[in-house]
Amino acid sequence: MHKAVDRWRRQISYLRISVTKRCNLKCAYCMPGDGGPIYPKGDILSIRQILRLAEAFAPMGIRKVRLTGGEPLMRKGIVALVDGLRAVGGIEEVAMTTNGVLLGRMMPALQAAGLSRVNVSLDTLRPERMRALAGHDFTEPVLNTIRAIAEKGEWPVKVNVVAIRGINDDEILDFARLAAELPVEVRFIEMMPTAHNRLWNGKTCLPSAEIERTIRERYELLPGPRGLSGGPAVVYGIAGGAGRVGFVSPLTKHFCGECNRMRLTAEGKLRACLFSDGEIDLKAGLDAGHEDDWFRQKFAEALGAKPERHALTPRSSAPCSRPMAAIGG
Ligand code: GTP
Ligand code: 5AD
Ligand code: SF4
Repeated sequence: MHKAVDRWRRQISYLRISVTKRCNLKCAYCMPGDGGPIYPKGDILSIRQILRLAEAFAPMGIRKVRLTGGEPLMRKGIVALVDGLRAVGGIEEVAMTTNGVLLGRMMPALQAAGLSRVNVSLDTLRPERMRALAGHDFTEPVLNTIRAIAEKGEWPVKVNVVAIRGINDDEILDFARLAAELPVEVRFIEMMPTAHNRLWNGKTCLPSAEIERTIRERYELLPGPRGLSGGPAVVYGIAGGAGRVGFVSPLTKHFCGECNRMRLTAEGKLRACLFSDGEIDLKAGLDAGHEDDWFRQKFAEALGAKPERHALTPRSSAPCSRPMAAIGG
């Protein structure tokens, strides 16, 4: 079986599967604001079809799957999907990125199904601000869920904070304090100019170096366990603290040279790079009942079109046609 290696000799071992474009929040950098249907239109894959593709791709070297959205916990059958993915030979880790709104209630079922860990998005600790940024305030329940997971200690938890100048740049130390108090990894993420990002204007990008400087004025950061769980973040421990802080810097320090990922959209398109609209449709093949080899051939085609890197800068305008809610991050 050919392993999934691209033209730049990157081994692809991580599949990000978006299971829905719907979300119970409307973050201004992620979702179109008009409440209309999220581009592109099209039927989404069934749970059975997603599992079918995971089974076809795992022998090519896929070891890790991350379920994304929209909000993955809005998808009917998500627990059964986790359960099914855990049973696919070769897949060692099934993780999820969620906004945490439904997580407290669904945690027992997800744990029983074998979910390996979660990344929870939370951009502000202030109720009014969350309402303005995301349309609703869930700061307290989400924070309580993060706390409960961290205190239980069974799941490693990362908190994703999209850093936005003029919106949450005055909360950097509050989030650093969260990482000092709880055994969680708080990751500050440079906002990217995906389609319909209502906060992107060429001035709102907050470079990681600036955030790091602010944190270092208050906390001593210790060389961190880079590469422990893979991933694009540069991570530091906090002297005397329980958790860690990390920086995901797609704009000021892209990590494309180490890219190990492929994406599957909710409508069944293989997307080789977050920022390349060249997509390969698999849904038609599923509907036609093709064999594994057909899907592996399509995977190889997508790999062949994977760009070496993105060309984003802190001032880029939207370089892709999908909003983040329709890619999955
Ligand atoms: P870990 O496996 O825990 O390291 O998670 P992850 O960082 O791969 O996934 P997560 O969904 O938590 O994403 C964190 C941030 O990184 C989000 O803002 C994503 O949009 C961004 N991100 C994830 N993968 C990529 C990528 O391949 N390229 C770029 N540019 N950004 C990415
Ligand atoms: N830039 C950076 N990160 C984003 N996310 C959503 N939209 C953007 C964007 N424009 C994050 C979410 C979530 C992860 C999947 O991607 O907050 O944590
Ligand atoms: Fe990989 Fe594209 Fe992300 Fe770069 S931007 S890390 S090439 S998916």
